Amino acid sequence: MSRIIRIGIIGSGGIARSHASAYKKLLNVEIVAVADSMEGRAQAFIEQEQLLGAVAFEDHKKLLEMDLDGVSICTPNFAHHETSINALNAGKHVLVEKPMSVTLQQSIEMVEAAELSGKMLTVGFQPRYDPNMSLIKDIVQSGKLGNVYFVETGGGRRRGMPGGTFIRKDLAGAGAMADIGCYSLDMALHALGYPKPLTVSAYTSNHFGTNSKYHNEAAGFEVEDFGVAMIRLEGDIVLNYKISWAMHMDTLGATMFLGTDGGLKVTPAGSGPWSGVWDGSVGSMTLYHDVVNQHIESTIPVISHGLNLFDEKVKDFVVAIQNNLPAPIPGAEILYNQAIIDGVLRSAESKREVTIDLPY
Ligand SMILES: NC(=O)c1ccc[n+]([C@@H]2O[C@H](COP(=O)([O-])OP(=O)(O)OC[C@H]3O[C@@H](n4cnc5c(N)ncnc54)[C@H](O)[C@@H]3O)[C@@H](O)[C@H]2O)c1
Repeated sequence: MSRIIRIGIIGSGGIARSHASAYKKLLNVEIVAVADSMEGRAQAFIEQEQLLGAVAFEDHKKLLEMDLDGVSICTPNFAHHETSINALNAGKHVLVEKPMSVTLQQSIEMVEAAELSGKMLTVGFQPRYDPNMSLIKDIVQSGKLGNVYFVETGGGRRRGMPGGTFIRKDLAGAGAMADIGCYSLDMALHALGYPKPLTVSAYTSNHFGTNSKYHNEAAGFEVEDFGVAMIRLEGDIVLNYKISWAMHMDTLGATMFLGTDGGLKVTPAGSGPWSGVWDGSVGSMTLYHDVVNQHIESTIPVISHGLNLFDEKVKDFVVAIQNNLPAPIPGAEILYNQAIIDGVLRSAESKREVTIDLPY
């Protein structure tokens, strides 16, 4: 029988529940500790989730003194950096929620801590576990499109602006571009094999968030609710990326990969208020190509699945711990995602194209 994998959860708010629920479904896994900086919150979580025998802490460093194999980091974005680095330095594997951190420098330090510790740092992008997302990557990587030179992606919500820590610049880092945009970026970059980003030219706005007609925390709304960016990637590929938390439109359109031999269009499921393929809501996939000079459109059937993507991401983390595998969604890869978000903010602020400089 395999040994029990001992897990700690840091931050016991909304998303921590999906982590707890997923761990509880796995054999030979035990959540043995929960930490939340808000008094009483970790204990209440332990009771609500019926984590028998789990210990509650307010200070995550105390939790890290325990004998644990891995930790789920489910704090607001601003605490991902400190808690991840402390966990890695304490010899624990880390599954950190998205977006990876608040600044690019923080993400670099997290990757360095993982390398030094020899422990894994994996980032919680559950749409990766949607078989349609894997299919998009397989099509792009199959060579069927030839050389891909242009990608357009994004999506958004007609109305869907969070509040609290999500709209504070110091606590969240960025708004829609990081919160839901990081998924679109991950889908496109993953399909392309994560090419290095080189430059960004971006525009952002917050016409909705700062208007009390649309947001009840308008006075404290400090981040962007809309953004568009043109990103140059290694390999002479251009990525056009647009995202919104709020807009007077049903959808920001399809995700498209244009290649020298073919094109792939992926439309979101429906054109509802949460449209976009960023969360795995694929409506249709069409391949555009020529057959003996005829312009052909081939429908690629969308894979229906009953997977709970949150369960899958947590399971993959545990499997990696059990089998000593590399991080399923490595921080070193998601660094490029964070670098683009950082470039978007710098470019929008300066109203100029900016260069992305990465140490690796
Ligand atoms: N993968 C997804 O689909 C998904 C969905 C929602 C949120 N998220 C991400 O999950 C993270 C948390 O979001 P949420 O909605 O659960 O937030 P939340 O505010 O509901 O919960 C965060 C909890 O962390 C606690 N906390 C803050 N600082 C802490 C620290 N230093 N140590 C310990 N606890 C601390 C807070 O007291 C709070 O209870 C964010 O990064 C968010 O982007 C991911």
